[in-house]
Amino acid sequence: MGVTVLGKTQHFTAANSTFQSMVGYTEDELKKLTPLDITPAGDREANRVVLKELQRGKRQHYELTKRLQRKDGEVIWVQLYVFGIPDQGAVGMTVNITEKMRAENALQVARAELARSAHVSRMGAMTASIAHEINQPLAAIVANASAGLRWMDRTPPHLNEIRESFEQIGQEGRRAAEVIDSIRSMFKSKELAHVSVDLNQLIREVLALLEGPIQKHGIAMHTELDDALVSVTGNRVQLQQVLFNLLTNAIEAMESVANRSMLVRSEFGNGEVKVTVEDSGSGIDPKDIDKIFSSFFTTKVEGMGMGLSICRSIVESHGGRLSALRGHAQGAAFQFTLPIGMSDTDRKLKCRSVWLWRQPGRAYR
Ligand SMILES: Nc1ncnc2c1ncn2[C@@H]1O[C@H](COP(=O)(O)OP(=O)(O)OP(=O)(O)O)[C@@H](O)[C@H]1O
Ligand SMILES: [Mg+2]
Repeated sequence: MGVTVLGKTQHFTAANSTFQSMVGYTEDELKKLTPLDITPAGDREANRVVLKELQRGKRQHYELTKRLQRKDGEVIWVQLYVFGIPDQGAVGMTVNITEKMRAENALQVARAELARSAHVSRMGAMTASIAHEINQPLAAIVANASAGLRWMDRTPPHLNEIRESFEQIGQEGRRAAEVIDSIRSMFKSKELAHVSVDLNQLIREVLALLEGPIQKHGIAMHTELDDALVSVTGNRVQLQQVLFNLLTNAIEAMESVANRSMLVRSEFGNGEVKVTVEDSGSGIDPKDIDKIFSSFFTTKVEGMGMGLSICRSIVESHGGRLSALRGHAQGAAFQFTLPIGMSDTDRKLKCRSVWLWRQPGRAYR
C-alpha cells in the first residue's frame, strides 16, 4: 500500500517506496508536487473540492476511487483513503486497483463475446446433432415412399402394403419431431440454472452428440467412467460446452494423424471430480503451451481461439481448474477438476470473476 504525507501547502512531504514505484516519481520529485499535479486534468476539479474540505476541517477523512497520472504518462486507477491532521496536512493511503478496473471494463466486452461464442458453438452442436439424428428417419421416409410407389404400380395395387408404407412414413416423421424436441429442450434457458449434474451422464450425452464426427474420422473412442462419481453442482449447458469444446479440439487435433484414438476418463477423489480428455493427435508445441488458454490464440486456419479460454472461465466459475497435462508423450491431454459441494456463496464469488479474461489489455473483436 502506498503511504504519503501531505504538508499544509498540500505538497507531498513524504512517500513510501510503494507509492514511489506506483507513480514513478522519487520522493524528492514528489516533494515538489501536490496530488493535483499527478491527477489527470479531467479529474482535478473533484479532487480539488475534497482537498479543500479537508483543509477547512469540513471533513476529517475521505475515500476516493480516482485516477493518477504516472511520471511516464500512464494513467492508473487507485483507491485512496485520506485522513486530515488538524493544522498539519494529511496522510494518504493508496491502493493500485488498475488491474481490477481494467478487468471490469473488459467484462462487458468479454461477456458479449462469450455469449456470442457460446451461442455459435451450441448452435454448431445442435445443427450437427440434428443433421445426424434426423438423417435416419429421413432415410426411412424416403425408402417407405418408394416402396409405397412400387406397390401402387402393381395391378391391382397392393392396398395393405401401401397403407403400411404410409403408416411407417407417419411414424418416422413423428420420431424426427421427437428428436428435434429433445435437442431443443437441451438448449432451453431454464437449463442455465445451477443444478446437480451427473458428469458421467453428461459425458455420454456429449459423446452421442459427437458420434457423427467421431465415426467419420475413424476415431477409436474409449471411456473410463468412474461409477462412484458424485454429482457436482453446476450449470449443465456450460459444463456440456466444456466437454464439447475439449472433445472437438481433440477430434480436430487428430485430423493430421493416421492413428486416431481418444480417451475420456472420470475420477473421484479428495472431494473433487476429475475429467481427463486424451487424444493421439498432433500434440501441443511446448512453446504454445502457455498461450493456448488465452482468448483468440489459435493455430487453426478457421479457429477462433475461444474454445479453451471459454472452458477455463467456465471451470473456474465452478470452483475448479482446467489445465493441459504437460509432457504428454503422444497427442495431448486436458484435465479439469470440479469440487463437489460448493456453497452458493462460494459460487457467487467465483461467478463474479468468471469473465475476467487472461489478457484484459488486448483488443477485442
Ligand atoms: N487436443 C489438442 N491437441 C493439440 N492442440 C490443441 C488441442 N486443444 C487445443 N489445442 C491448441 O490450442 C489452440 C487453442 O484452442 P481453442 O479451443 O481455444 O481454439 P481453437 O480450437 O483454435 O478455435 P475455436 O475457438 O474454434 O475452438 C488450438 O488452436 C490448438 O493449437
Ligand atoms: Mg477449439
